Amino acid sequence: MTDTASTPDRNLALELVRVTEAGALAAARLVGMGDKEAADQAAVDAMRLALARVQMDGVVVIGEGEKDEAPMLYNGEHVGDGSPPEVDIAVDPLEGTTLTAKGMPSALSVIAIAPRGAMFDPGPCVYMEKLAGEADVADLLDLDVPIGEVCRKVAERRGIGVRDVMVVVLDRPRHAEGIAAIREAGARVRLISDGDVSAALLAVSERSPVSLLWGVGGTPEGVISAAAIKAIGGALVGRLWPRDDTERQAALDAGYDLDRQLTQDDLVKGDDCFFSATGVTDGDVLQGVRYEGAGVASTESIVMRSRSGTVRRIKARHNRAKMRTFATGLFG
Ligand code: FBP
Repeated sequence: MTDTASTPDRNLALELVRVTEAGALAAARLVGMGDKEAADQAAVDAMRLALARVQMDGVVVIGEGEKDEAPMLYNGEHVGDGSPPEVDIAVDPLEGTTLTAKGMPSALSVIAIAPRGAMFDPGPCVYMEKLAGEADVADLLDLDVPIGEVCRKVAERRGIGVRDVMVVVLDRPRHAEGIAAIREAGARVRLISDGDVSAALLAVSERSPVSLLWGVGGTPEGVISAAAIKAIGGALVGRLWPRDDTERQAALDAGYDLDRQLTQDDLVKGDDCFFSATGVTDGDVLQGVRYEGAGVASTESIVMRSRSGTVRRIKARHNRAKMRTFATGLFG
């Protein structure tokens, strides 16, 4: 008799890696070409084709936007082959469109999946304040505590000097005060021009030079980061950040609590989510797509499952001559 308790069940992350590899391979041809829309579109097209082959009944909760403006991978679109399991999907076919267009580090193709109804729907809230770090400082992550004070507490907890604390922050005018406060506390700042999913992964990774991620970034990126953090460990708190009174009112009318600090478990409920990311350009977390001549390209991905806490790095070599028709197009 089969012992179902000890029979390994399906790890969707291992299938999702083909989806993010497709997105990354397609976008990588446009690295440095100065056209972020084209790079994004290439990733969307490739990812959508690859997603259609995955056995799942998926609904895009976080995608390219509303149907009117996004013909593909729009919020509410059904993807997968329609067979069980029923899942929610958060996709960012190209996280770091500008990074890709400018040939800069840390662009990713990324996807997260969770059981139906488990993912936080950002509704009209495009941005959220975020604070992320490793598990040992999880209880210190509080958006109501001034960021300089958080840095001091992290240093104290770890028995290190505050100058050993490094905070990664998106380089935006809205962060000027916070950046000054971090520096005033004596901690260091790593400014990034884009890509706070990759920065969140860095902040929760052991042995990374980065201690915290702080600042306002995309809500979709916050949900996707939460899925990864549930598998890799660490913590993230986020609070919705309306840009103006209209957005604030729309969020309140839709029933969102704008004061609440959401944890990774609020952003992705339960304990069976999957995450996959493939590097487009080289970064601290993943190597980007490399072309090795004669129709061969290599990719590096990280795939995770929260239930088992399994984190795998997958290096793949893709051979155009042996690929099926849809995939050969990825080489451009
Ligand atoms: P895109 O890939 O859509 O260009 O987003 C990149 C990004 O930097 C995210 O990583 C981040 O969460 C968000 O944009 C920040 O938004 P903004 O650039 O409007 O400050």
